[in-house]
Amino acid sequence: MNIESFDLYNPPMDFIDHVYKYYKLLREKSPIHKNPDGSYVLTTYKEIVSVYRNFKIWSSDKKIDFGAKFGASPLFEHHTTSVVFVDPPNHTRIRKIFQQAFTPKSIRGLEKDIINLVDSYLITMHEKKKFDFVSDFSFRLPVDVVCSVLGIPSEDRQLIRDWAHKILGALEPKLTPKQLDEGSTAVVNFKQYLKDQIRFRKTHKDINNAHEILSFLIEAEGLELSETELLHQCIFMLNAGHETSTNMLSHGLNELINHGDQFKLLQKEPERIDTAIDEILRFQPPIQINNRRCLETTMLENVTIPEGTPVHMIIAGANRDPSQFFEPEIFNISRSPNRHLSFGLGIHICAGINLARLEAKVAFLRLMSSFKEINLLKKPTIAKRIRFREIKEMQVEVSSF
Ligand code: HEM
Repeated sequence: MNIESFDLYNPPMDFIDHVYKYYKLLREKSPIHKNPDGSYVLTTYKEIVSVYRNFKIWSSDKKIDFGAKFGASPLFEHHTTSVVFVDPPNHTRIRKIFQQAFTPKSIRGLEKDIINLVDSYLITMHEKKKFDFVSDFSFRLPVDVVCSVLGIPSEDRQLIRDWAHKILGALEPKLTPKQLDEGSTAVVNFKQYLKDQIRFRKTHKDINNAHEILSFLIEAEGLELSETELLHQCIFMLNAGHETSTNMLSHGLNELINHGDQFKLLQKEPERIDTAIDEILRFQPPIQINNRRCLETTMLENVTIPEGTPVHMIIAGANRDPSQFFEPEIFNISRSPNRHLSFGLGIHICAGINLARLEAKVAFLRLMSSFKEINLLKKPTIAKRIRFREIKEMQVEVSSF
């Protein structure tokens, strides 16, 4: 194909199956690529890092984009209030609360819960022997963890999954009226649900104390956060902390299975877990694209980007840029250094990094030590989404030691 005419909003039919091939072509032939709608698609590490770092020129505020896309709807309210889509000074104020809530101590406090959750799924997996890894493991752990962070009862977790899927799904470049409608309804229901939860917790301080992070957010209400802001940060956290981690776990296992030598190496030398997690994240970034809008006319390499232009930062392209990564197409769990961009960079860098890493660490170490082998029964199904790289289904067979 002629890559000069590539359109991110209307990618070629085989795009999802060959995303890395297309991003490589863009990186090599059109690294600062003008999309037919006038926005720019960036695929090189250097340019993406420079955009992440310069938040005064590159705005995360999405009121213009989402005004056009969502109109005056609950989806608009949500996506323009969550911390990830606001600029300083509001971003600084809200982000501080996340930082105070996600302390190393509060994350450490979750480790035992995470181990217990993983062990409970492993029992079922040992019994079943053949199962869908997504529904029996990678989908369950992050949602159970993030719900536990916010003190959401386990019986309501399916509700949360459905709402999250509809709200985040609305961030895909192209949407049907039905998807828009479902996204907005999900925001309304999610807000009401959280209002009830928070009201309950305010009157039950003993329960509150068991969920340090939620209590921290509740205490900030009225001081640093309005009620609407509080609700949207909770929704955002429930969403941000679950689809992403689910896909990290699914892709991680898939890549380890596809690279049997690396699977065996991690099994034999579990001390490689930290570099292995980074390599999984580099190789298959769960969020493939971040966006910014240019606040003043600026140059990227030798291209002038006019004020107001939206840019798409292709994390999935930057993570395989040979100017930053030696042999980028090779999956190497010992890679170091590994400065991938899967958690973003700069002022909006993921606030849940330590939690995501802890989930991955417990999950992969326990999977590796519980099963001698894990094999795919068929090729996993990849969802037709370009922002989130989602494995929908992954049938596996396990054999015990
Ligand atoms: C593997 C799992 C995860 C990945 C790949 C991931 C990725 C990202 C990325 C790329 C951003 C930056 C967005 C931007 O700059 O526009 C981000 C922001 C964020 N993430 Fe994560 N995330 C993960 C897990 C989590 C978890 C578990 C939580 C919390 C429960 C979380 C909470 C957040 C928050 C609050 C922000 C916004 C930070 C800000 O705007 O200042 N994330 N994440």
